Amino acid sequence: MIATLKPIYTKVKIKQPINVGSKEFTDNKYEYYKWLREEAPVCQGKLSIINAYFISRYEDCVNFLKDPRFVRNRTTATGGSRFPFPVPKSVSLLSQSMITEDEPDHRRLRDLVHQAFTRGQLAKLEARIEHLTHELLDKAETQITVDLKQAYALPIPVTVIQEMVGAADEDMPQFYNGMKAMTDGLSGLTILRTLLWDIPRLSQFVREMIARKRSNPQNDILTKLIQAETEGGKLNEDELVSMVFLLIIAGYETTVYLILNSVLTLLEHPDQLARLRSQPELIDSAVEEILRYRGPVQGTKPAYALENVVLHGVTIPKGAAVFPMLGAANHDPTVFKNPEVFDITRSPNKHLGFGGGIHSCLGAPLARMETKIAITNLLTRNPNLHLAVDPSELELINTPLWHRYKSLPVVLG
Ligand code: HEM
Repeated sequence: MIATLKPIYTKVKIKQPINVGSKEFTDNKYEYYKWLREEAPVCQGKLSIINAYFISRYEDCVNFLKDPRFVRNRTTATGGSRFPFPVPKSVSLLSQSMITEDEPDHRRLRDLVHQAFTRGQLAKLEARIEHLTHELLDKAETQITVDLKQAYALPIPVTVIQEMVGAADEDMPQFYNGMKAMTDGLSGLTILRTLLWDIPRLSQFVREMIARKRSNPQNDILTKLIQAETEGGKLNEDELVSMVFLLIIAGYETTVYLILNSVLTLLEHPDQLARLRSQPELIDSAVEEILRYRGPVQGTKPAYALENVVLHGVTIPKGAAVFPMLGAANHDPTVFKNPEVFDITRSPNKHLGFGGGIHSCLGAPLARMETKIAITNLLTRNPNLHLAVDPSELELINTPLWHRYKSLPVVLG
């Protein structure tokens, strides 16, 4: 079966005011982005229960990500709490990681783990990832039809980040359950349960995990962070907890969908798939094009205005939350010729799939390496790979500013 998904631009009628957290928006995001770029480049709307402004043109997003008039720490901009709504202390502590900090705290925290993610360090992981992908394929290929997410795309990044951080096998399901509760809870009616029960429990669990590691140090990121805390005083225990949380969640939540989106997008474009099969050296530019065309992360964390800022005639008031829509920027026709065309040889391709400015993705070299190895080995070992279901059955998870499928059933062979 050749995948003929519905076109990426869905020609739906735009519903206003826009709600980026709605299923309608998730399912038709590229059509909404087009409208936003053309008609409302600075748009006031909602992301679930949060009032916010959305920026959608490429140049505006790039400038925004470097603009000192916007900060990640909401308290700096508003004098109020970190969150636009009340949350328990354990929740706000968990979310105080580098991604929601400004300088100098952001740099201090990022520098503590940066070394583990450099290309040189990662080169040492290459053989491990090769081995892991083959191991997973050996197992998956005993079945004809598999959900590629559970059998392959998920275990690769999760195993890698688990080993890098130094978490035990039995620790990992806790993160998965906590993550699932957050994903389901924050976009549904169970938000209170998630905020009051799931996240505090996860936070407590991370503390216990750190305590276990203190008495059993090893050669991993967590041990180094504990040393930085106890010997160097370079971060406190709350920061340590939220760092571990951020790194493991980044491992769970991102690369899995880059791998899945890659497979799906290639199956959907048989000419590009055939080209990649015949010229495997195109894998680098193919992965960049997937990050542009259908990247898993479609927006950054919000930044808050330190003062009133006027952009395209719209006043963003002091304290307002602003989201740059990376996915919209990546389809901006003023930067990407024929953005609706998936072209694995596209060059230049300065997409924003990993964000930009000081918060640009720390794990980008790791994510690229995992995805390249995962796709190359999957395609090489399965020349007849195809979807096992009608493409219309594939369902997007309704999480704002992500592009993630619930599952991807495929036939191997
Ligand atoms: C395909 C996979 C990935 C994508 C598309 C992705 C995307 C992004 C994006 C867009 C940002 C910017 C967020 C913002 O500005 O609010 C970001 C930040 C970050 N990413 Fe990734 N990411 C991926 C994989 C990873 C991995 C594997 C890790 C490793 C643990 C990681 C760790 C981080 C961290 C720590 C930050 C915060 C950096 C900072 O605030 O300075 N990411 N990522």
